[in-house]
Amino acid sequence: MAQISKRPGRTPARTLESRRPRAGEVRAGPFVMVIFGSTGDLTARKLIPALYALHEDSSLSGSSSVLAVGRRPLSDESYRKAVFSAVRKNFPGAARPERVAAFAHRFHYLRGELQDDALYKTLRARLASLSPSGAAKDANIVFYLAVPPQVVPLIVAGLDRFGLGRSLPQSKLVVEKPFGKDLDSAEALNRQILAAFDEKQVFRIDHYLAKETVQNILFFRFGNALFEPVWNARYIDHIQITVAEDIGVDDRGAFYEQVGVIRDIVQNHLMQVLAMVAMEPPAGFEADLVRDERSKVFHSFRHMDGRYAKAFTVLGQYGPGLAGGRKVRGYRTEARVSPASQVSTFFAGRFQIDNWRWAGVPFYLRTGKRLPRRVSEISIEFKKLPLRLFGKACGHMEPNGLVLSIQPQERISLVLTVKHPGMGSVPVPARMVFDYAESFHVKEHPVYERVLSDCIKGDLTLFPRQDEVEATWAVLDPVIEYWESRPPACFPNYAAGTWGPEEAFDLVAREGRAWRFSGEQRA
Ligand SMILES: NC(=O)c1ccc[n+]([C@@H]2O[C@H](COP(=O)([O-])OP(=O)(O)OC[C@H]3O[C@@H](n4cnc5c(N)ncnc54)[C@H](OP(=O)(O)O)[C@@H]3O)[C@@H](O)[C@H]2O)c1
Repeated sequence: MAQISKRPGRTPARTLESRRPRAGEVRAGPFVMVIFGSTGDLTARKLIPALYALHEDSSLSGSSSVLAVGRRPLSDESYRKAVFSAVRKNFPGAARPERVAAFAHRFHYLRGELQDDALYKTLRARLASLSPSGAAKDANIVFYLAVPPQVVPLIVAGLDRFGLGRSLPQSKLVVEKPFGKDLDSAEALNRQILAAFDEKQVFRIDHYLAKETVQNILFFRFGNALFEPVWNARYIDHIQITVAEDIGVDDRGAFYEQVGVIRDIVQNHLMQVLAMVAMEPPAGFEADLVRDERSKVFHSFRHMDGRYAKAFTVLGQYGPGLAGGRKVRGYRTEARVSPASQVSTFFAGRFQIDNWRWAGVPFYLRTGKRLPRRVSEISIEFKKLPLRLFGKACGHMEPNGLVLSIQPQERISLVLTVKHPGMGSVPVPARMVFDYAESFHVKEHPVYERVLSDCIKGDLTLFPRQDEVEATWAVLDPVIEYWESRPPACFPNYAAGTWGPEEAFDLVAREGRAWRFSGEQRA
């Protein structure tokens, strides 16, 4: 038989194996999840439903169990009842009682005070009995800290004192956001955690990274030959990232008064999305290779001192206005908010990444509460054409644009120029849209399923590393300090239901650009 000759000049591409299992392909092995803060909102609204979804999906092995730790006097049975109602509430009508009961049976309750050694002593004994081999040493134990940040060090120190940290090499520590409130506190928290656990055991949650469309940024960029060659300062004019919420602070007023918009959204979600857009191709898809590249982006940010903050960042706070056609209150009259609050609910800023790929390309970031609609997206605007080939009509041509929508719809749209049908030579923009739900007939995948599944499997790719967290604080600390030392006198400065204060429009307009959506409700 004739040999098929290899075509000359074609080198086979190196195949890089992703360690990340594809959905449904790999079942998590047996694990014990210990939830601190098991009586809180996060556990009831996110963790229990996500575990249930994995259970229903047959992604949890039969012997896996959950040990709920709390200070309330509950029995296994009463906690299981709470699990039962959390599931029924989150899956109304869909969860069959006998299946939910079987799921609830995976849960056990351990009562104790976080500062008491007795809690950790009992915990160690319970872990041994719940571990499939009868010994905690080789078990896959996930310590999930669903507690307020101030008690995290207490728990970490307790686990460490009783040999439940790095001496259990398969164990993991999951820490919720916020991770610190500035660089100093993030460094201190990292020091405390890394005194007890190895970095490879630590999962710092930024659930935005677990969103399908955010992950798809990398697939889009590095899975297509078309875009990466133009993904740079030579072809891209600027990039906008918007995370807009139409809701106010609702019942999270007390929490929000402590953090404000920069700590709540910019330091984590916006920074991580930006890194996915701006990073270099990693040498592979192992967690640290991806995290190395994200980290390099943060280290390439232009330093934002007080002068920069004044010139290129804008803060806002919503006043009364309209949301969905009904009157809504301003931030200062929300529950558990000071009537003289200076806390910001809106941020817009121009960031600069001083590296070879992005020199000179502005990244405009915008986020806020009580904006006209809920939308998260990345918009990449390409440069104008070098020549007006079609004469005057070119003056009206939109540059090519690419929009990666994260929510509410997960979609990618590309703006191209085409000829308008007819005898004339009129260029018009046309939109090519790829919609996830339409193409794959799937709804948005709940992010906590992905988060938990990755924690259980030990895949750290979607979890920021110590250096990433510290680098983002280092970028934003001077901005926070500048504004905290000079709180804007004009708050509230945008009406609920508008796209933020006028200064945010000026920020881009003075550079000859405009926000997407800027035609709609202005302040
Ligand atoms: N809720 C969310 O959707 C969400 C989203 C993202 C991140 N997070 C983060 O997740 C963490 C938990 O949030 P959450 O909304 O669940 O808060 P939460 O509803 O206030 O619940 C906090 C949990 O921690 C326990 N706890 C608080 N102080 C304690 C102490 N001193 N000793 C022992 N236990 C203590 C509470 O126990 P008791 O019931 O006995 O008070 C409760 O189980 C926070 O860091 C938050 O920022 C939450």
